[in-house]
Amino acid sequence: MNAGAQPAKSSPALSAGSEPVDPVYRQIRDLVYKVSGIYKTEEKLYLLAAGCGRRMKQLSAKTSREYWDHLTAHPSRDGEMRQLLNEITIGETCLFRSQPQLDALRKVILPEIVADKTKQVTRRLRIWSAGCSTGEEPYTLAMNMMEESAGTLRNWTVEILATDLNDHSVETAKAGIYGDYALRSTPDYFKRKYFVPVEDKKLQVRPEVKKLINFSRLNLQDDSRMLFMKGMDVIFCCNVLIYFDGSSKSKVINHFYSNLNFSGYFFLGTSESLLNLNDKFHLVHFPGAIAYWKPSLKSGKL
Ligand SMILES: C[S@@+](CC[C@H](N)C(=O)[O-])C[C@H]1O[C@@H](n2cnc3c(N)ncnc32)[C@H](O)[C@@H]1O
Repeated sequence: MNAGAQPAKSSPALSAGSEPVDPVYRQIRDLVYKVSGIYKTEEKLYLLAAGCGRRMKQLSAKTSREYWDHLTAHPSRDGEMRQLLNEITIGETCLFRSQPQLDALRKVILPEIVADKTKQVTRRLRIWSAGCSTGEEPYTLAMNMMEESAGTLRNWTVEILATDLNDHSVETAKAGIYGDYALRSTPDYFKRKYFVPVEDKKLQVRPEVKKLINFSRLNLQDDSRMLFMKGMDVIFCCNVLIYFDGSSKSKVINHFYSNLNFSGYFFLGTSESLLNLNDKFHLVHFPGAIAYWKPSLKSGKL
C-alpha cells in the first residue's frame, strides 16, 4: 500500500461474508508471490483485492478476469505488476525506529569493523538498507554515521545503499521531506543539525546527508540483481521479511549472507528472528537489540 493510503475494508469484487472468494484473486495472489515473495493469506486477500480494485479503476478494467489479462497477457504486463506491487506493499516506518540498534552499531559494530579493515587501502564502509520504504531508515543511518565522522569513522568513506520494491516509496525517499509522524522519535539535536524547514511545517534532510545515500528500486526476490550486491559491511532488512513465506525468506537471507563481508552484521526488525531460517549466522546480543554476525575467516567459527 502507498504510504498513508487506507486499505479498503472490502472490495465489491470480493465476495462478502461467508461467500466464496473470487478465485481470480487467488491466481493474482500466487502471481504476486512468485514475483515478489509477498504472500497474502486468505485473511489478507481483501487487501490485495482492494489494490487490484484501484488498478482496475485506472485501467477501466471491468472484471477481475479482465485485470488478470492485464497482468499476464498484455505487452505491458511487467509494468502492470510493478504498479500493483506499488499498491499493495506496506511501508510503515519512521526515523530512529530502533535506538538500541543504532547504539549497537555505533558503540560496538563500527569500532570492530574499523579495526578489522584498518589494513585495507580503501577505508570504505558500506551499509545496505534493504526494504527502505520512504527513506527514514537510511537517513537515520546516514545521520548517525555523520556523527562518527570525526571519531571512529575519521577519514572513512561511508556509502549507504537504500533499496525498495515500491517505486513511489523510492521517489518519496529521494525527496527526504518528513512531517511530525515520521519524525516522532527523532531527537531535537538531529532535527536541528540535519534538517531544514520546508513548507507545511515539514523538515527536509540536508543535501550533505543525502549525498551518502544511493536510492534505487530493487526486488529482493530478483536473484540476478541480488547476486551483484556484494561487499556489504552491515545490512539492515527490518520489517520486510514478515510479508514473505518461509521459502522466500530463506532465499533472501542466503543472498544477504553471501552479500555481507566476513565479520559483517545483519539486522532484522525488533520482533523478527532467523530462528529455523539460517544457521550460518551467529546470533549476537546487544542491550535491547540483537544482530546476526557473519563469522570471519580468522575466527575459525565458520
Ligand atoms: C514495513 S516497511 C519497512 C521499512 C523499514 N525497513 C523499517 O523497518 O522501518 C516494508 C518495506 O518492504 C518493502 N518490500 C516488500 N517486499 C519487497 C521485496 N520483494 N523487495 C524489496 N522490498 C520489498 C515494501 O515496499 C516496504 O517499503
